Amino acid sequence: RYTRTLLDKGNGHYNLMILCWNVGQESPIHNHPNSHCFMKTLEGVVHEELYKKPDMTSCQCSCGCKMKKIDDRDYAIDNVALITDKDGVHRVGNRSHVDKAVTLHLYSPPFTTCHKYDDDTSKETEVPMGFDQDFSGRCCGTSCCS
Ligand code: SIN
Repeated sequence: RYTRTLLDKGNGHYNLMILCWNVGQESPIHNHPNSHCFMKTLEGVVHEELYKKPDMTSCQCSCGCKMKKIDDRDYAIDNVALITDKDGVHRVGNRSHVDKAVTLHLYSPPFTTCHKYDDDTSKETEVPMGFDQDFSGRCCGTSCCS
């Protein structure tokens, strides 16, 4: 699984995170509940698939509808992406078979849970959006940040 490292809590206004993607790793399709997500590629190339937010009321089939892809993009070093729930929901990943990727993410306001969507049925499940490491209390440079 890719790793999420919290760098800064922005006094409760945002979460700044570094995500590290090994070859072939990707997120589930997920949303960003009432939040803005900025993503900048620091290393490698990350791929984003953008999907229409599913509307289960319009689904013809009782067993669900396949997620509808609306865009596909690559983000090379220094490229910046922005996504909100108004744009849709997305999957991010590292499609390289050789190179790792590193991305910087700013989520504002921060959130602790989101919804992930099943590719085939669009069924949504609430999942925790935690982090693997918390460096937010660490000192930066020679003096302490707090
Ligand atoms: C994640 O936050 O775990 C996936 C990437 C993103 O949507 O920012």
